[in-house]
Amino acid sequence: MKQIFIAGNWKSNKGIAEAKEWLQQFNVKCQTRPPARQVSNLKWDQTTVVLCVPFTLLYLMKQEIIRLQIPIKLGAQDLSPYGAGAFTGEVNATQAKELTEWVIVGHSERRSLFGESDELLAKKVDQAKSAGLRIIYCVPDDKTIVPQHVDVIAYEPVWAIGTGKTDTPDNANRVCETIKRKTNLSAVIYGGSITSDNVNSFISMPFIDGVLPGGASLDPEKFYTLILKASSAT
Ligand code: PGA
Repeated sequence: MKQIFIAGNWKSNKGIAEAKEWLQQFNVKCQTRPPARQVSNLKWDQTTVVLCVPFTLLYLMKQEIIRLQIPIKLGAQDLSPYGAGAFTGEVNATQAKELTEWVIVGHSERRSLFGESDELLAKKVDQAKSAGLRIIYCVPDDKTIVPQHVDVIAYEPVWAIGTGKTDTPDNANRVCETIKRKTNLSAVIYGGSITSDNVNSFISMPFIDGVLPGGASLDPEKFYTLILKASSAT
């Protein structure tokens, strides 16, 4: 039985009221699987779920997740390549660490829309690591440089993100295998148009340890179903 890692990415979506509503609905799904979490086919002990949300929601969501005892962790979607200081508009790694355990670095939208280079991303990884954050590092292929000390690598072909077109499970498996051999990391996941309908075909591949759904994490019921299906595919 492999451990699976699911990282939902809300991108630049949702305000406070919507985030509260999402958590309430997600919690209902967690509670109502009969008869209890332990015996449902959602194997929480083998499944790590990280929900990566905008900075503006982290504080509230952290409180709510603790209060409702929801078995998911939070992540940020980016962070400053610098520490504290005169960097207007930036959130540094130490600030992020007060609110979250995980951070995505190098998402393809950061690379393409904000021109983030491998050098800049390496600085972000250094900052994240020294603050004690755990890092989900996104790469578009198996050739991209991966800095040391990342915790999870997400293979995300650019053309598959938000398009409804996935890579084939076979090819994604091959790319994840190559990344795994190159980096010696135990967690390599796939992202790009993952839904509850296609998640099984990726999770059941031997070198794919999880998934990174964007759009499919926005709806609590769909996200719960996706987790359930992923969990029962192992
Ligand atoms: P998507 O996004 O699931 O909507 O394609 C994936 C991602 O955020 O990388």
